[in-house]
Amino acid sequence: MNTETLAGASGPSPTQEFDEGTAFFHGRMMPLADAQVSIATHALQYGTGCFEGIRAYWNEEQQNLYLLKAPEHYQRFHDSCRMIRILCPYAVEDLLEITRALLRTGGFRQDVYIRPVAFKASRVIKLTLKDLRDDVAIYAVPMGNYIDVGGLHAIVSAWTRVSDNAIPARSKLTGSYVNMALASDDAHEKGYDEAILLGADGHVSEGAGSNLFMVRRGTLITPPVTADILEGITRSIVMELAEENGIPVAERPIDRTELYVADEVFLTGTGAQIAPITAIDGRMVGSGRRGPMVGRLQDAFFRAVRGDDPNHRDWVLPVYD
Ligand SMILES: Cc1ncc(COP(=O)(O)O)c(C=O)c1O
Repeated sequence: MNTETLAGASGPSPTQEFDEGTAFFHGRMMPLADAQVSIATHALQYGTGCFEGIRAYWNEEQQNLYLLKAPEHYQRFHDSCRMIRILCPYAVEDLLEITRALLRTGGFRQDVYIRPVAFKASRVIKLTLKDLRDDVAIYAVPMGNYIDVGGLHAIVSAWTRVSDNAIPARSKLTGSYVNMALASDDAHEKGYDEAILLGADGHVSEGAGSNLFMVRRGTLITPPVTADILEGITRSIVMELAEENGIPVAERPIDRTELYVADEVFLTGTGAQIAPITAIDGRMVGSGRRGPMVGRLQDAFFRAVRGDDPNHRDWVLPVYD
């Protein structure tokens, strides 16, 4: 097993409060600590915002920082803005250039997490999405692994994933993340690393901030985009890598008990990267160790994200010219 690739991102844990970072706010670059909003901000009161999470990986040999799938993230950011009736004043191309400039301003030469956020900025008390002032900000902080990429113990949560007719899960809407925080907290209180959420129909939806895959009899299976999931960009990467490696992929509903008999289960996400689950609800998954399929996918993934795979150079955008 290649322990180097297993390490994933390196840097501080995102669970520690950031004391350094760079922001783009009100059209200019500034230290993260200076990018402030009023306590009366609509989005703070009602969760009326949307965001993205983008990683940039540092390549020591090439002395360059690579943004992973940044155009796809900003396209989804635009879609989330549309969902919540925010007019993003920046085109995807502008956002890419601002982000590269932001990372250069911060002088980052390490693994970084970029958080674009758009929100209802008006200081009004009114339950609406219309006729409010919008604001957009982007900040970047150094960040290592969000969760362990060696083997997680998960629990199927008693909290149900919000359904599309309540709060659309396919968009990254700030308020909807209370759903994930409740499930995560509950899992941690009970001594587990991660929560797996079921949809209102009882089928498996996703992890708390990640998409879920399982392997059964050689096929890689993941819930469809209609299962109240975020349409994950890492999910698409994994499906593409699987296809390239001749692994059959199926998008179909997954029953909870299929997780108990699966050969492998793993989570994918910008934060999560590719993270194997080795036990669910106290039952061992497969051999109880990182499985061979997720191992292959992790190796290919961690190589590509640092710009080391010539076949996937189009997935990454260099920050330094
Ligand atoms: C709820 C949820 N599901 C899935 C994902 C994974 O999506 P992506 O791979 O685009 O980061 C995320 C994280 O970004 C998420 O917040």
